[in-house]
Amino acid sequence: MRLKVTVPATSANLGPGFDSLGMALAHYDVYEVEVVSSGLEIQISGEGANSAAKDETNLIYRSMKLVFDSVGKKLPGIRLTCHNSIPHGRGMGSSGAAVAGGVMLAAGLLDNKFSEKQLLEFATKMEGHPDNVAPALFGGLTIAWVDELGPHHKKLTVHRGISPLVLVAPNEMSTKLARSLQPETVPHTDAVFNVSRSALLVAALTQSPELMMAATEDRLHQNYRASAMPETSKLIAALREKGHAAVVSGAGPSVLVLEDDPQKRLSAIEFVKKGFPTWIALALAVDFKGASLEGQPGSGN
Ligand code: HSE
Repeated sequence: MRLKVTVPATSANLGPGFDSLGMALAHYDVYEVEVVSSGLEIQISGEGANSAAKDETNLIYRSMKLVFDSVGKKLPGIRLTCHNSIPHGRGMGSSGAAVAGGVMLAAGLLDNKFSEKQLLEFATKMEGHPDNVAPALFGGLTIAWVDELGPHHKKLTVHRGISPLVLVAPNEMSTKLARSLQPETVPHTDAVFNVSRSALLVAALTQSPELMMAATEDRLHQNYRASAMPETSKLIAALREKGHAAVVSGAGPSVLVLEDDPQKRLSAIEFVKKGFPTWIALALAVDFKGASLEGQPGSGN
C-alpha cells in the first residue's frame, strides 16, 4: 500500500490580507507513504534533509495522526519518504505543505471520506491559521476566514496576466518570532486602510492586475515585523520604488512580487541580481490544483 501526495508552496498574506489571503505556487514537495507492519521510518531529501524531525515529532506524521485520532483509529506502521523543494523557514509555506500533505495522506489511507471543509479544519488546527493551508490543499488564490463553525475558504482563479516572483531570502526566520512582534490592537484608520486594500487586492488578482501597487499596501503586519528582517524591508522598499508590487511572503523573510506582466518580472529579477545577489529569484506560475493524491486509497485499517 503506497500513496503519494504532491503539495504546492504557498505565499500567505499577499500584503494586506493578513491571516486571510494566500496563493499556491508551482513549486512542490512530494511525500510518499508506505504502510509497513510496524514502526515509523522517515527519509528526507532536499530541503530540511538535515534539520527536519525524523521521529513522531515530524510535522507530516503529526498531521496524519491528528486525522486518525479524529476518527478514533491508530496510525499503522509507516515508511514516509519526503522529497522537499520548498525552502524551510522562509515564508513559502513549507510547514503548511507538510500539514496539508499529512492530512491528505491520512485521508487517503482512510479511504478519502472527508469533505474539503473537514480537511481544512484538520489542517488549520495543526497550523494555527488557515491562510497557507487553504491554498496548499485547494490551489489558486484562496480567501480563508474563521467563525464559530471553524475555518472556511473560497477559491478564486487568478488573472492570467499575474506573474509571481518569489525572492528567497538567504536566511531563515521563525513565524513565532514574527507573530510575537504584532501588537494586540491597531488604530482604526489602519484597519480601514487594510480593509480597502485587501478588497482591492481580490479585484487586482482576479480582474484588474494594473491596480496591484495600491492593492498590495499594508499597515497590519509588515512594519511591525520590519526590525526582525531589515534586508527584506530594504528590498521591498527598493522594488516598490521602481513600481514592482513587492510584499513580505507569509511571515517572511522572503519577498513576493506580484507582477502584472512577465516583462516587468524579468526586470525585477535583473534588479535583484545586481543589488541583492544572495537572494534567489524563483519565477513561478500559480498552482491551480492544490495538493494531489496518487495511489490506491484505503487500507489505513
Ligand atoms: N499569516 C501568517 C503570518 C503566515 O503572517 O503570521 C505565516 O504562517
